[in-house]
Amino acid sequence: MPPKKLTTPDKKRTPAKKEEAKLPASKSKAKTLKPEDTNPVHDAYEERWSLHPGEALRRKRGISAKEQQARAKHPLAISQEVFESAALRKKAYYADKDSMIFCGDVREVLGWLREAGIYADCVVTSPPFYGQRDYGVAGQIGLEQTPYEFISKLVDVFSDVREVLQTSGSLWVNLGDTYWNGRGEHRGKDKKQDARRFGLRPQDRRGDGKLCKNKQLLLLPHRFAIAMQDKEWIVRNDNVWVKPNPIPDQVADRSCMSHEYVFHFVTQRFYYYNRVAVGRKTTRGTYMPPTDTWEVPISKGGTSHKASFSQELVRIPILASTPPRGIVLDPFGGSGTSLLFAKSHGFRSIAIDIKEEYCEVMRQSLRANLI
Ligand SMILES: C[S@@+](CC[C@H](N)C(=O)[O-])C[C@H]1O[C@@H](n2cnc3c(N)ncnc32)[C@H](O)[C@@H]1O
Repeated sequence: MPPKKLTTPDKKRTPAKKEEAKLPASKSKAKTLKPEDTNPVHDAYEERWSLHPGEALRRKRGISAKEQQARAKHPLAISQEVFESAALRKKAYYADKDSMIFCGDVREVLGWLREAGIYADCVVTSPPFYGQRDYGVAGQIGLEQTPYEFISKLVDVFSDVREVLQTSGSLWVNLGDTYWNGRGEHRGKDKKQDARRFGLRPQDRRGDGKLCKNKQLLLLPHRFAIAMQDKEWIVRNDNVWVKPNPIPDQVADRSCMSHEYVFHFVTQRFYYYNRVAVGRKTTRGTYMPPTDTWEVPISKGGTSHKASFSQELVRIPILASTPPRGIVLDPFGGSGTSLLFAKSHGFRSIAIDIKEEYCEVMRQSLRANLI
């Protein structure tokens, strides 16, 4: 049978072309565009795409995609001389040849690292969650008037983090969600939730009646991730931390929350990822990447920090994203979980925290080599 004759799109378009010919000159598509006819929205869109971070960086540095790919496989290590620079050590709360602790506001300290020429391979952190803790220090993040303000502050911090992240590096952010309450200060007794009751929290205020209303789950983790995408971060995963032993919620009309997210962000297409270190070995001896649900019991603590995460939670982020002798950075260090895990696996590490008490906890843990 002879093949069916196809109608070409051109043939289909012919009548439209005839119509066009009938249009008055001002409405004809053939009109030559003057500069004032260009669409600013469209132009901005084009520009954003041409400025994709990976591509822009490659062009700026004059290296090909192939070279970039090679660098992602074998990232350049920051020299020990830079890591131990005297100017930086002067500002550190504690420093040894592998680790540094800085006590101060995260954005100020990130500026010091940038000036010193430090670039981290893996940034893994758990910033304060919205309205969950009062750390009692001026400048702390987490108690902003609105969830929008909270997200914008976090995104600004991570824009500064990007300045000290290797182009082949990864950023991992653990974030949990918050319910709006809107019914004033909590008065009841709840021993298990003690650390989360500290007077009038932002979510206890009346709210705007839209997002911020009674019983509303704010969906902050994904609002944050979308805001990060708007700043040109690439989201690789929204890993789910499943807690087999959650702190019970005192509620009767919804499920008890037993998960948080660990977002994996990168800045470009090619980045370092050690699949063998974190993957699942197949019967053929190859490695499959880990799954995106991680069942990890909540940390039993052991220090005075009330929101520390467990070492198991930073295992995949650190082992997958840190090359040998690479640098791990935790900009909200807390009790130093990331710092200690990195040290025990032969990586260099830096932690920042605004609260001196926690910097002291980290210092003592490092010195005692409590891992
Ligand atoms: C959720 S905790 C981190 C816990 C940590 N992952 C651990 O395992 O212990 C958040 C930390 O951020 C710190 N923090 C809050 N605001 C800060 C700021 N502006 N600059 C630096 N650290 C800040 C708090 O003191 C707190 O220790």
